[in-house]
Amino acid sequence: MNIPSFQLDGKVALVTGGSKGIGFGMAQALGHYGAKLVITSRGVEEGENAVAQLKEENIEAVYFPCDVTKKDQVEQLVAKVVDHYGSLDILVNNAGMNIRKPLVEVEESDWDQVLTVNLKGLFLIGQACSKQMIKQNYGKIINISSILGTVGMQFQTSYAASKGGINQLTKVWAEELAPHNITVNSIGPGYIKTPMTKEWLSDPERTEWIINSTMSKRIGETSDLVGPVVFLASDTSAYVTGQILNVDGGWTAR
Ligand SMILES: NC(=O)c1ccc[n+]([C@@H]2O[C@H](COP(=O)([O-])OP(=O)(O)OC[C@H]3O[C@@H](n4cnc5c(N)ncnc54)[C@H](OP(=O)(O)O)[C@@H]3O)[C@@H](O)[C@H]2O)c1
Repeated sequence: MNIPSFQLDGKVALVTGGSKGIGFGMAQALGHYGAKLVITSRGVEEGENAVAQLKEENIEAVYFPCDVTKKDQVEQLVAKVVDHYGSLDILVNNAGMNIRKPLVEVEESDWDQVLTVNLKGLFLIGQACSKQMIKQNYGKIINISSILGTVGMQFQTSYAASKGGINQLTKVWAEELAPHNITVNSIGPGYIKTPMTKEWLSDPERTEWIINSTMSKRIGETSDLVGPVVFLASDTSAYVTGQILNVDGGWTAR
């Protein structure tokens, strides 16, 4: 039997929203398994600091700023990645945000902002990267969804709609791109400690409720996503496509 490897030596990975939180943790994980990294985000200083930290860990990495909601910037980003490294093998489509409000208080602008970053941005990046991956006849696309793509929860109108959309896009793209040797999967994290959730998790009552709702009885860490992202980025997952892998301490299984 041919035993495929988890190693990513020689592979080029683009991580959107890679300057902090889940994206940075995933970039570290892919880098430690041998991938060469491109980090992108809007905040240049944070992005360059993230790349400096990766380099300290002996990971080859470069920072290119990009707002994922702007098609021209997205196309320029993909061109820069290919110009710099010669290929684009792994995409972690991670940039995202949230505005939590009761349904009756959601402004039209809240809805537009969340859907534009989380869903349109993910689509634009996925489309531009797919064009390059089709040329290479190889690619691994990992869309970062959420447990809220699967389950409902109060105050998450816009966010849950965006993440449900991501799960559906994942299945559509998986079928379209399979003939080009490209797998497409989603990771749906549960609550993970990051800058995005810092304030939300600062309320002890809410934290207790989350812990009690989770089979593993703890909040997740970015390190909990290392195994899942490396698996989906490597050739060990060659026969896995169109799947939603919830990494949530059992939340969605309850
Ligand atoms: N933390 C959790 O509990 C959790 C749970 C489930 C799913 N997720 C998902 O995981 C992903 C990362 O979340 P996180 O908690 O790590 O968030 P975070 O700490 O707030 O990081 C978000 C990243 O996305 C970037 N970003 C935001 N808007 C962007 C845009 N328009 N263009 C380019 N980059 C943009 C940010 O950089 P700039 O602001 O500088 O652009 C930053 O690098 C998101 O998709 C989120 O929905 C998180």
